[in-house]
Amino acid sequence: MHSEPAPFAQRLIVWQKRHGRHDLPWQQSRDPYRIWLSEIMLQQTQVATVLPYYQRFLERYPDLSTLAAASLNDVLEAWSGLGYYARGRNLHQAAQQVMQEFSGRFPSDPATIAELPGIGRSTAAAIAVFAFGARAAILDGNVKRILCRHAGIEGFPGLPAIEKKLWALAESRLPRQKVEAYTQGLMDLGSGVCMRHRPVCTDCPLSADCIAFVEGRQNDLPSPKPRSKLPERTATFVLITDGRAVLLKRRPPKGLWGGLLVPPEGNPETILGELGFVSEGVHALPELKHRFTHFQLTLRPVVCPLTVRPAGPDHASWHWQELGTLEQAALPTPVRRILRGGLASKK
Ligand code: ADE
Repeated sequence: MHSEPAPFAQRLIVWQKRHGRHDLPWQQSRDPYRIWLSEIMLQQTQVATVLPYYQRFLERYPDLSTLAAASLNDVLEAWSGLGYYARGRNLHQAAQQVMQEFSGRFPSDPATIAELPGIGRSTAAAIAVFAFGARAAILDGNVKRILCRHAGIEGFPGLPAIEKKLWALAESRLPRQKVEAYTQGLMDLGSGVCMRHRPVCTDCPLSADCIAFVEGRQNDLPSPKPRSKLPERTATFVLITDGRAVLLKRRPPKGLWGGLLVPPEGNPETILGELGFVSEGVHALPELKHRFTHFQLTLRPVVCPLTVRPAGPDHASWHWQELGTLEQAALPTPVRRILRGGLASKK
């Protein structure tokens, strides 16, 4: 007989007690100032990097009123090295706002906390949970990954529709009690077990009913960011060949494919005419798509067979490339593919 696994939150709480982190400096306090500071520093920076900055910052600014009274320049100096300086600016401004609007008492309600500069919904929830024992759901990048995998949620988590679904799921999975251990458990699981790459599912208390694990789709979930539609261009590549070599032209050193050898581009009749060549049996090869950073290129290869290899063209940029040595030639990848597929077999 097999039994249902315990509820999601219960398993995570039990796991956190045994395997989670308990000795981080901000876990030794319920001071909202200290917890807020840790959550801001941890937004874009790893724990190991944060630790020395956190201690030094607290020595310099031991409480909220000291921070609010400091000059912005001094605060940014204390922040220097952590990066993302908007965090330091927002921190300073939020401290002044708490002094003015809340008489120096940090608000305890997640929605009110979220109105302070630099604090989004998830960070506000984390502060409310750790400082005030509130029952509120967090949803940072780690938690999104855990939920997408466990519930088998498809779609890029940054899309508003997916994010909405994830918030609803995060809320619905909140336990009635022990929300602190649960929240810390999500953070610990995300950083030490359910990592983006190579998650250690054998150590995970949630694997029994994790859709990604059960279906072996850990690498597909969460879904990657959809690739933006790139502008499309089409180019006809004219493959002039006598069956032994193909005519290529060296590109100017700067710009796209700088210095590489490529077939002439454009209308086959025009190009043959300009070169003074006559071809019989001109035929198209299958198209090929290639992605550049800023556009997508569709390559249309057209083969122009010659019965004899003519002299010239005598400009130095032209080059008869022997088909037997294509692999060593300085060709762009898609051109190499075309030549391999369309010409390389005929020696
Ligand atoms: N990342 C964000 N918040 C954290 C916390 N409280 N403990 C560990 N890692 C975190």
